Amino acid sequence: MKGREKIACLTAYDYRTAKILDDAGIPLLLVGDSVGTTLLGYDNTLPVTLDAMIHHAAAVVRGTQRALVVVDMPFMTYQASTEQALRNCGRVLQDTGAQAVKIEGGAFRAPCIAALVQNGIPVLGHIGLTPQSIQTLGMRVQGRGDEGAHQLIADAKAVADAGAFALVVETVPAALGGQLSAAVNIPVIGIGAGADCDGQILVINDVLGLSGDFHPKFVKRYVDVGAQIATAATAYKTDVETGAFPAPNQSYE
Ligand code: KIV
Repeated sequence: MKGREKIACLTAYDYRTAKILDDAGIPLLLVGDSVGTTLLGYDNTLPVTLDAMIHHAAAVVRGTQRALVVVDMPFMTYQASTEQALRNCGRVLQDTGAQAVKIEGGAFRAPCIAALVQNGIPVLGHIGLTPQSIQTLGMRVQGRGDEGAHQLIADAKAVADAGAFALVVETVPAALGGQLSAAVNIPVIGIGAGADCDGQILVINDVLGLSGDFHPKFVKRYVDVGAQIATAATAYKTDVETGAFPAPNQSYE
């Protein structure tokens, strides 16, 4: 799709949402380790386990017919060694039926990416703000200034040369997003990386208005499902308390 059409990607964590997004024609669904903050109530992604990712990813795969399903490898399931990465990424593909994994890291991660790809495991890279490095990088814009930009361009090239089929670039200046897309021949999927990336990805809960109080600048909310759930729950409570529910047509004779 690179150079022909922009690629609209979203995260998904469950069967029903995956089915809706797949039917809507979203071509890539990422089972992000953002499941930790969106669905599981953690402060960041670090506590997310491999078993939790497999549980959610298998549900997403069951709901998907056309989209490419990519599973985020959680913290410390691939960093310790290439052997650890091969075993855990292989298990994810075998146990979930997903087609690819995502791992974070730039040039230093290239040998691991190459080993995965050489052994039949497609890899989506992830550079820029990498949430699994929150304790060292924080959650601020990456790649500002010449040195930072050059490093990220080198990272993007190394990840592409290692064989990644696409690259997520998170929270970098918009101009750098365009430079990164031009620097490699694989699709660059931006999140907070400006309009000139080959595609965009957002966290589905942010799109739906189902996230907490933290709203990064790059998020666009398309609907406020959180408010709609609150309205529905309040109306249901009133109906039960007043006896309006269940009515005869919701009851058996
Ligand atoms: O975990 C996630 O949802 C991600 C996206 C933000 C790219 O990594």
